[in-house]
Amino acid sequence: MNILVTGGCGFIGSNFIHYLFETRDDVNIINLDKLTYAGNRKNLTDIEKKHAGERYIFVHGDINDPELVAGILNVHEIDRVVNFAAESHVDRSINDPSPFITTNINGTQTLLEAARQRGVARFLQVSTDEVYGSLGPDGRFSETTPLAPNSPYSASKASADLLARAYFKTYGIPIIITRCSNNYGPYQFPEKLIPLLFSNASSDQAIPVYGDGLNVRDWIYVRDHCKGVAMALENGIPGQVYNFGGNAEMANIDIVKTILGQLGKPESLIHFVADRPGHDKRYAMDFSLATKELGWTPDHDFATGIKETIEWYSKNKKWLKEVQSGEYRTFMRNWYQDRK
Ligand code: NAD
Ligand code: TYD
Repeated sequence: MNILVTGGCGFIGSNFIHYLFETRDDVNIINLDKLTYAGNRKNLTDIEKKHAGERYIFVHGDINDPELVAGILNVHEIDRVVNFAAESHVDRSINDPSPFITTNINGTQTLLEAARQRGVARFLQVSTDEVYGSLGPDGRFSETTPLAPNSPYSASKASADLLARAYFKTYGIPIIITRCSNNYGPYQFPEKLIPLLFSNASSDQAIPVYGDGLNVRDWIYVRDHCKGVAMALENGIPGQVYNFGGNAEMANIDIVKTILGQLGKPESLIHFVADRPGHDKRYAMDFSLATKELGWTPDHDFATGIKETIEWYSKNKKWLKEVQSGEYRTFMRNWYQDRK
C-alpha cells in the first residue's frame, strides 16, 4: 500500500507514521510536509534511519502546490492519502486567520483535486471535534451533530470537511472524514495546553489559564487517535464520518492541577488570564459508530496516557528546547501580553 501522509512531521502525523511502521508490514509512506514552525523532521529521525529511500520518503513541500501534489501521486503510485497537514492552533487563528484559509481550505481542495485526477482508493481527511462548536453541560457530539464552528481554525476545518463531502457526493471519490477530540502525547508542539504546562512548570514559569479554567475538553492519547485513523483508512466506509474520543472529559483547571501535582510543582504557578475570544465551553464525543463499524475503542485512560506523556517530555527536554524557536517565543510573548 503506497500512502501519502501530509503533515507527517507534525505532532499527530509523526505519531501516525511511527504507529504504521510499528504495526503494519505492507505500507510505503511518502511524507509531504512544508515544515512550518510546527513541523520537525527530527520527529522521524529513527524512521529515516531505518526506512529512508525504501519504505519512507520525505518531500519538503506545500499541499497547496498542485503540480507537486499531482507529481507525487503519479510518480509514487499513491493509492491512499491521509491529510494531517494543517495550521492547528486556535490562538494563532485568532491572531491571523489567513494561513488557516490557505492551508486548511485551499490546501485540502488541492489534495482532493489531485486525488480525483489520480483516482485514489481512499482519501482520509483528518478533522476535529471543534467543527461541531460548543456543548452545554450535557450531551455529546455525534457524527450527525450540525457543524457550528466558532474559531477561524474550526471554521477552516469545517470548510475542508464540507469540500471533502462534496468530492464524495459529486465525484464519488472514496472519502472518509475522522473527527477527534484533544490529543496529547509525545512530539506535541508546546503552544498547546499540556506541553506548554509541562514546559512552563519545569522551569517554574507561570501557567496561563484562560478565563475561569472551567472549559472542558475530552482528552485522547495520540496513539489511540492514530489507531483509529489506521482502522478508518483500512475499513472505513466511503462517505462516512467517524468520531474518536478518549472518554476523558476534564476541566482545564483540573488538568493543570493534576500535572502540577505529578511534577511536584506548587499551584501558585497558576495564573488566570483573560479568556480566549469565542472560547468553546465544552467538547465531548460519542464514538459509538467507530466502535460499531471499525471495532475501535481507546486503549489508554487519562492516568496512563499522561504518565507516559510526562515521562516522554522529561526525557526529551532537548527536543522541547529546540522547537521553542525565536518565532515561537515572539508569538507567545505577544499573545500572553495581550491576555494579562
Ligand atoms: P501540528 O500543527 O502539530 O502539525 C501540522 C503539520 O502540518 C506540521 O508538520 C506542518 O509543517 C505541516 N503543514 C502545515 N501547513 C502545511 C502545508 N501547507 N503543506 C504541507 N504541510 C503543512 O498539528 P497536529 O496537532 O499534529 O494536527 C494534525 C491534524 O489533526 C490537523 O489537521 C488537525 O486539525 C487535526 N486534529 C488535531 C487535534 C489535536 O488535538 N492536535 C485534534 C483533532 C484533529
Ligand atoms: P489547546 O491545547 O490550545 O487546544 P484547543 O483550543 O484546540 O482545545 O487548549 C486546550 C484548552 O486549554 C482550551 O480550553 C484553552 C485552554 N488553554 C489555557 O487555558 N491556557 C493556555 O495557555 C492554552 C494554550 C490553552
